Amino acid sequence: MQAIDPLSVIYKSVGSEGPYYQLVEAFYQGVEKDPLLRPLYPEDLGPGKKHLAQFLIQRTGGATTYSDERGHPRMRGRHMPFKIGQAERDAWVTNMEAALESVPEFQAHKATLKEFFASFATFMINQPG
Ligand code: HEM
Repeated sequence: MQAIDPLSVIYKSVGSEGPYYQLVEAFYQGVEKDPLLRPLYPEDLGPGKKHLAQFLIQRTGGATTYSDERGHPRMRGRHMPFKIGQAERDAWVTNMEAALESVPEFQAHKATLKEFFASFATFMINQPG
């Protein structure tokens, strides 16, 4: 028996890409107001929004546009240029958890997604303190 990855069934339940873009929009609204996170992001937030939505769609069992266009995710490597310590990690998770609350389609998957975001964000830490 192969264990089922609980993330990979979420896309089907959500049903379309729209809610992912809503989630990312809500998350980035938080980033724009966050004094710790905003300086880490480029002036133009558009491309990052699209990449995050496509990554999450792919990771939860939807279209593989992210890897088709960007190659292997290499998320830790892609985050190396940004100083991510515990405080930045916590701010990211707080913003994403707030964003999750705002999209009805994700309510049934909140526990799984929160666990994923929390552990993935910890994995992105690349600076002490
Ligand atoms: C731990 C705190 C984190 C910080 C401070 C952070 C910060 C950033 C920044 C500054 C960018 C560049 C955005 C741009 O170029 O427009 C980025 C890109 C990205 N981040 Fe994060 N991130 C964090 C955690 C995460 C987590 C947990 C995920 C996924 C669950 C994630 C997924 C992505 C994706 C998919 C991209 C786009 C990569 C690409 O260029 O293809 N990040 N992040």
